[in-house]
Amino acid sequence: MGNLILKDCTIVTPLGTSAKKGQEMSELSVIRHGIVVVVDGIIRYAGVDNGTVESIYDHYECRVLNLENKVVLPGFVDSHTHLIFGGFREEEFSWRLKGESYMSIMERGGGIQSTVDATWIESEDSLFHKAEWFIARMIEMGVTAVEVKSGYGLDLTAEMKMLRVADKLRHSLSSRIGIATTFLGAHAVPSRFKGRTAEYVDLLIAEMLPPAKEFSEFCDVFCEKNVFELEDTKRILKAAKALGYKLKLHADEIVTLGGAELAADLEAVSADHLLHISDKGIKKMASSDTVATLLPLTAFALKEPYAPARKLIDAGCAVALATDLNPGSCFSGSIPLTIALACIYMGMTIEETVTALTLNGAAAIGRAQSMGSIEVGKEGNFAILDSDDFNVLPYYVGMNCVRTTVYKGNVVNTNK
Ligand code: NIG
Ligand code: FE
Repeated sequence: MGNLILKDCTIVTPLGTSAKKGQEMSELSVIRHGIVVVVDGIIRYAGVDNGTVESIYDHYECRVLNLENKVVLPGFVDSHTHLIFGGFREEEFSWRLKGESYMSIMERGGGIQSTVDATWIESEDSLFHKAEWFIARMIEMGVTAVEVKSGYGLDLTAEMKMLRVADKLRHSLSSRIGIATTFLGAHAVPSRFKGRTAEYVDLLIAEMLPPAKEFSEFCDVFCEKNVFELEDTKRILKAAKALGYKLKLHADEIVTLGGAELAADLEAVSADHLLHISDKGIKKMASSDTVATLLPLTAFALKEPYAPARKLIDAGCAVALATDLNPGSCFSGSIPLTIALACIYMGMTIEETVTALTLNGAAAIGRAQSMGSIEVGKEGNFAILDSDDFNVLPYYVGMNCVRTTVYKGNVVNTNK
């Protein structure tokens, strides 16, 4: 927990402690020549500098960064990743380049199942160090909180192994980044249960959900045709809710199934992907508090149409953006490319993109009270840009315009 003063900065932030919906997403506060004070990791002042602010906090011996009016954003929140996994799937990617589909590879035992096989045999240490490397790269891009999922175990032992790795990451990186953990035991029907999905769901509910709770805050399901369909998903998520999990959903990613509607009905924290969300789903999401988390890198890597961000926002939904970093559908954790795709191909404005990656991302992991904006009382988490104009965000296509990342008042990375 650090004491820090950011002097002469351009503060760009959404304001509030809950997700911004619809046109509210474009309402950013922009303060030029501002000052931000963080004491013990928490923001104590953020606003115009009347010249006396710094002296008030003299006795805290704050580190002072003079930013020459550079942009300070809330630290980015990557609210959907699968960054703990065994092996890699570059060969599968080459098959997809030749025209094979993601689902057909999955149906013949490749895809997620092949990462499951690799995760079973990889040591906890190796899983940990790989994940730690990805997280270090994300911190360089201004990420100050990340969600990580299990889901490459698909049995109790291996799911618990993944969740222990997540827990170890959470503790050992606690001075550098916030980590939220999600149990995704329903990521695929394991090959040993082929054709017996209901039996796997029974096992998951009876034997995996209760112990996994020790290490996870959220429960997620890959709700998809021929994977876990609506009824399976509902059973799992209702059982999870009864155990105190908050809910997430991979919804309407490959086909329109009604996952978005289910997420809203179950008051899930977020429904993610939504490439094929129906108009009815959009309406339902708009009248709920469920955040629509969009993952443009996945659509890009799968060569699928992007999720209808414009329609979602115009209908009044709260939209978040995340990377989906995983070894199969999207082996990228690039925040800069996420921003560029959202602005160039999904029709989001730069302001909406900022809200989607900060306050709405925080809401998608249930943390909007404590992070996601630059306001008194919130954690001192910042992405400081190399520019005094936040329009550089999509302009730097796939290149990083973040200079410095701050977590709880400590500088955790500076790109030289
Ligand atoms: O979010 N769709 C399901 N899960 C991941 C992909 C996981 C994988 O292919 O390993 C996703 O896209
Ligand atoms: Fe995912």
